Amino acid sequence: MKLLVTGGAGFIGSNFIRHIRQEHPDWEITNLDKLTYAGNLENLKDIQDQPGYHFVKGDIADRKLVDKLLSQGLDVIVNFAAESHVDRSILDASPFIETNVKGTQVLLEGAKKHGIQRFLQVSTDEVYGSINSGHFTEESLLSPNSPYSASKTAADLLCRAYFKTHHLPAIVTRCTNNLGPYQFPEKLIPLVITNALENKPVPVYGDGLNIRDWIFVGDHCRALDAVIQKGQLGGIYNIGGGNEKTNLELIRKLLELLNKPQSLIQFVTDRPAHDRRYAVDCTRITTELGWKPAYSFEKALNATVDWYLKNESWWRSIKSGEYAKYYERMYSHR
Ligand code: NAD
Ligand code: TYD
Repeated sequence: MKLLVTGGAGFIGSNFIRHIRQEHPDWEITNLDKLTYAGNLENLKDIQDQPGYHFVKGDIADRKLVDKLLSQGLDVIVNFAAESHVDRSILDASPFIETNVKGTQVLLEGAKKHGIQRFLQVSTDEVYGSINSGHFTEESLLSPNSPYSASKTAADLLCRAYFKTHHLPAIVTRCTNNLGPYQFPEKLIPLVITNALENKPVPVYGDGLNIRDWIFVGDHCRALDAVIQKGQLGGIYNIGGGNEKTNLELIRKLLELLNKPQSLIQFVTDRPAHDRRYAVDCTRITTELGWKPAYSFEKALNATVDWYLKNESWWRSIKSGEYAKYYERMYSHR
């Protein structure tokens, strides 16, 4: 099997490539990544020279490049490439439209032209918007509230449209919040861990009672692997960890694990249109594909904290670079 993995130098993409190398060493992988601020070749250092793995620096919205890559005879596209941070989409939505919407359409067109066997769109539970009680199923209404989630919804629905209109073999997955190694420190969990290790305040948006469902990144990768092999074409699969936590609960637990004082918690101005709760019903993937998460919340949190403790140079080099300017801009007015 020959895979085109896009956005493979990011958090989930790099974990996915590592998972596939371990589980299916005979599968060939081409990783197409633009190396934005979130893409980091350090994430794949152990894999970069392995036979059967190729890296291409480029943009998924670049028609010519995508056409060239797909003309080499690839079987499957797994599209992780995206602008992925809600707060950045509030500051400037343009790159979200360029990559998440236009880029996905370019990949779908390429897949159509070259007769790709499977197109896996890595979507998100954020397409459903917020839910106060109960769980979203794959049939629930899509009501995105941020420019990020709106752009992901557009991409998600383009996959549906290409399946319906052109019989393109697309499958969509909608996963909840991931945690694990190599997550960029703008996201809540690595932000809390690394700020705490630096004895810096930990910013909590609003009242801190927003709820997210957390899944270990390795479990997400196993789910994607199952969907590639056994998922129904045109199908949508929710993926969740079953670990709902308020942000405050999660942050308190992290500070405890790190032996840091709870006084580092600092309440700051809320994010506009901040979704209160995400929760998805995973009956379909568990019954149809036999997948379920292997990591408990405690195990996932411990593994994640451990990784950041052991990989200080990885996050320190990110936090001291260009990212420092973003952080300053994002949090100075809050
Ligand atoms: P990330 O920001 O860590 O990585 C994104 C990667 O895409 C980076 O390597 C970046 O360089 C690359 N990229 C960005 N624009 C590109 C372009 N135009 N062309 C090629 N490459 C480009 O994101 P992540 O957290 O790993 O998320 C990966 C995917 O999973 C995204 O599509 C995201 O919407 C989805 N998702 C994430 C979560 C989560 O909790 N992180 C949950 C559900 C779904
Ligand atoms: P985030 O990691 O940005 O993921 P998402 O918004 O896509 O779920 O944020 C997770 C939750 O943590 C969300 O409710 C916003 C909140 N949050 C904070 O309270 N402080 C922070 O500094 C960040 C980055 C997020």
